[in-house]
Amino acid sequence: MTCYFSLLCHTMIVAVLMQFQIFVAVSQPQVPCYFIFGDSLVDNGNNNDLVTMAKANYPPYGIDFPEGVTGRFTNGRTIADIIGQLLGFSKFISSFANATDEDISTGVNYGSGGAGIRDESGSNLGGHISLNMQLQNHAAILSRLLLLQQNSTFTNEYVKKCIYLVNMGSNDYINNYLMPEKFPTSRIFTPDQYAAVLASQFSQQLTTLYQLGARNVAVFGVGLIGCTPAEIARFGTNGTCVESINNDVKLFNDRLKPLVDNINSNFSDARYTFINATGISTPQRGVALPNVPCCQLRSDGQCIPNSIPCANRSLFTFFDGFHPTEVANTVLATRSYNAQSPTDASPYDISQLAAISTDASQLAAI
Ligand SMILES: *[C@@H]1O[C@H](CO)[C@@H](O)[C@H](O)[C@H]1NC(C)=O
Ligand SMILES: *[C@@H]1O[C@H](CO)[C@@H](O)[C@H](O)[C@H]1NC(C)=O
Ligand SMILES: *[C@@H]1O[C@H](CO)[C@@H](O)[C@H](O)[C@H]1NC(C)=O
Ligand SMILES: *[C@@H]1O[C@H](CO)[C@@H](O)[C@H](O)[C@H]1NC(C)=O
Ligand SMILES: *[C@@H]1O[C@H](CO)[C@@H](O)[C@H](O)[C@H]1NC(C)=O
Ligand SMILES: *[C@@H]1O[C@H](CO)[C@@H](O)[C@H](O)[C@H]1NC(C)=O
Repeated sequence: MTCYFSLLCHTMIVAVLMQFQIFVAVSQPQVPCYFIFGDSLVDNGNNNDLVTMAKANYPPYGIDFPEGVTGRFTNGRTIADIIGQLLGFSKFISSFANATDEDISTGVNYGSGGAGIRDESGSNLGGHISLNMQLQNHAAILSRLLLLQQNSTFTNEYVKKCIYLVNMGSNDYINNYLMPEKFPTSRIFTPDQYAAVLASQFSQQLTTLYQLGARNVAVFGVGLIGCTPAEIARFGTNGTCVESINNDVKLFNDRLKPLVDNINSNFSDARYTFINATGISTPQRGVALPNVPCCQLRSDGQCIPNSIPCANRSLFTFFDGFHPTEVANTVLATRSYNAQSPTDASPYDISQLAAISTDASQLAAI
């Protein structure tokens, strides 16, 4: 590099140094590992090889993602991707489908489009990896990690320092309870009974996760699925959302904070926390972006393959009929990481979880 103007040269060197600093900063994650459980809101390609309608491995999905099309159900990064970056991971966490031995010590993403708390949720779309199966996959990954690390005491301590994210429940409504022509649940259970049954199954699954070594767990509530373009198109609305759906989902969400508190009081070293996805997604002030999709929709609410999406994805909340755009994911991820209000995340936001997990491991080392 020849420097004709010393000022410009100085600026370039500073820029290079700053890039180096940023690189150093992001190469030191706050926790050693990060495991992700959930549905299409976090799936990063696990469904690509399954026989199902619930896959997003074609354009225009991924149009704003650095690696392009991957199977993510959005234009750019998912909530899980953005939280991983906020935690300081320099690479995206690998999908379970593709995780190598080298990958698994920093974590695995088990997310699967269509998946639910209940095994049958999403089966109308085809194959998927339910939360119960994701927990089995996690047990298999832990066995692999044990073989690699060759020291069970070390591995047991190691996995207690990880952050765990669980984002489940939308498909237990969208692709189960709200589809009486395919599933009997709405004839068997009132909305309140269904919420109770779901919460009870979820409680067992979150306890299994504890038994598999998880201690720092962020449990996301279900978002405002009555405001998704696909549900509005199906059920119609007198306002901006299908309120009856949001009311049914609230019955489930309202059980999650007590559930998380219950786990924390039953297991003294558990640090589970509830992320209020509905609260964060509700605009507090200003004008909400309209609940219309950015891409052209197939009848099932996903993008038409190879269709041209909206030009400016920053102006839309929804990329397709169900899934938020990267800008909407950024709001949810940022506020779950650094709560802006006491109701966003309780009792901890994810930055606090990360700090506590490090403190706890330091205490253990003393
Ligand atoms: C796994 O990697 C292969 C080759 O890079 C790629 O084609 C495939 O889409 C990936 N699958 C997932 C689930 O990321
Ligand atoms: C196994 O890991 C524990 C905890 O890190 C450590 O104290 C112990 O020395 C290790 N054992 C061996 C044989 O390396
Ligand atoms: C809209 O209002 C009418 C009359 O109150 C009601 O019957 C209908 O169920 C409402 N539709 C929705 C989607 O809420
Ligand atoms: C917590 O303990 C109570 C009392 O033993 C029990 O009823 C409840 O099911 C437990 N909850 C969890 C999530 O383990
Ligand atoms: C979620 O946030 C909303 C809006 O801030 C609040 O009204 C609601 O009580 C919160 N829910 C829980 C369970 O904390
Ligand atoms: C997209 O919209 C945002 C928000 O209004 C604006 O800041 C940005 O400049 C727009 N981008 C393009 C390419 O028009």
